[in-house]
Amino acid sequence: MLVGLAYDLKDTLAVTPGCPEDIAEEYDSVETVNLITASLSSLGHTVLHLGGGTGFLHNICSITDIDIVFNISEGRGNHPGREAQVPSVLEMCNIPYTGSPPQCLSICLNKPLTKQILAASGIITPKWIIIKNEKDLDSIQWEGLRFPLVAKPAHEGSSIGIHSKSVAYDVNEVKMICESLINSYNQEVMLEEYIHGEEVTVGIVGFETPQVLGIMGIKPKANHDMFMYSIEVKRDYVNLVDYECPSLLPEDVLDNIKNISLKTFNILGCRDMARLDFRLDDSLTPYFIEINPLPGLGNHSDLVIMSDLLGIKHRKLIDMILSSACQRYPKCILK
Ligand SMILES: Nc1ncnc2c1ncn2[C@@H]1O[C@H](COP(=O)(O)OP(=O)(O)OP(=O)(O)O)[C@@H](O)[C@H]1O
Ligand SMILES: [Mg+2]
Repeated sequence: MLVGLAYDLKDTLAVTPGCPEDIAEEYDSVETVNLITASLSSLGHTVLHLGGGTGFLHNICSITDIDIVFNISEGRGNHPGREAQVPSVLEMCNIPYTGSPPQCLSICLNKPLTKQILAASGIITPKWIIIKNEKDLDSIQWEGLRFPLVAKPAHEGSSIGIHSKSVAYDVNEVKMICESLINSYNQEVMLEEYIHGEEVTVGIVGFETPQVLGIMGIKPKANHDMFMYSIEVKRDYVNLVDYECPSLLPEDVLDNIKNISLKTFNILGCRDMARLDFRLDDSLTPYFIEINPLPGLGNHSDLVIMSDLLGIKHRKLIDMILSSACQRYPKCILK
């Protein structure tokens, strides 16, 4: 097949003075684009780089024989719906693509909205509130929340704005962290109760009958009471984190996590792939933290690390995602 690759490179985002240094963390590296290209080529496909932004628009309008677009584009601008930009254009042009539809991508990048939808379906998630602006901080009923609290930008990924110091132990600390986040990231802040205990991330692949690829424990190498898989830790994961996959949690706990993950994937309308994060409390009850319908597919991404530990090569992972998408498009299956 002729496979178009839609992506946004880190260096397409101008990091201007005053802008947080992690602002381009969601965007992909040339290394990741090359890795996916190599995997697609090794599967026998011809790969066409479409890029992102207006370059993508130009390319997609001028090339007529693309069979499917492999989409890893994060989208442009500080918009909670930015990940939906490329799939929306592709739907408008009637071009097949991998991954979740615009509605799903827009919802999932909005962490509080996602939690609200899931909580309404009985999925357990830490208690949270939204801080829209600094004034909101003066009208909060703090007694209703259990400290410590985690403060995070409401519409980001890759731990943008999430540091070891994002955990607040009292009202003054919360106010300081929230003010700094609101000013730096220009968006709402979500305050969430901190869940002590093990962290796991869950990979899902598939369309009509999605399957859990694996459940991976994320364990700090050094004993750590208040572990956060923060941006600093993600950047230095080789020295700071041990990954346990398959997870050694008890079978019944793993089954519960699997069921909740698949239910979440279906409720949110995900397709082809996703990665979900949970924290477990003392009784091993999983608390949903967030879902990534557009998970990283580079060598340093959790889904790829998980696949590696399970003996699934990168090209196989890419093949699973592409084959899952092709189920929706009969003309792709025939190629
Ligand atoms: N309520 C919480 N309790 C405990 N730890 C938390 C909580 N919320 C976030 N964390 C920690 O912060 C990390 C990053 O948070 P989160 O997954 O929400 O960010 P993200 O930017 O969406 O991540 P990703 O890189 O997976 O896209 C989590 O992996 C977890 O270690
Ligand atoms: Mg996460």
